[in-house]
Amino acid sequence: MANDWLFAIDADEIDEEDVAPIEIEGKEVAIYRNNGRFYASVDKCTHGNAFLSDGIVVGDVIECPLHQGRFCIKTGKALSAPASIPIETFEVKVENGKVFVKVG
Ligand code: FES
Repeated sequence: MANDWLFAIDADEIDEEDVAPIEIEGKEVAIYRNNGRFYASVDKCTHGNAFLSDGIVVGDVIECPLHQGRFCIKTGKALSAPASIPIETFEVKVENGKVFVKVG
C-alpha cells in the first residue's frame, strides 16, 4: 500500500500559489500548487513545531510561518536559515482534476 497512488484532494480546492493540509494514511501532508503544477511534502517544518501549510507559497518556495525558513516545494531542499534540514517530498500526479500522492 505504501507505494500506491492515494487520492489527496480535488485540484480546484487549491488556489494558484497556495498550499493545503491533508491527512493521508495517518501522515500530515502539505499539497502545493504553483503555475498549474502540484507538489507534496510533509506538512511539519524540519526546524520546529510549525505546519508549512500555514505558511506562504511564493513560486516554488514555501516559507514557514514560524521563523520564515524557506524550502523548495519541488525538491524539499532547505533554502534559507533557520531551516537547514530538507523536508521529505512525495510524488504527485493529477488525473481528471484529482490530485494523487505516493506517501510511501
Ligand atoms: S519552525 Fe519552521 S523555520 Fe522554524
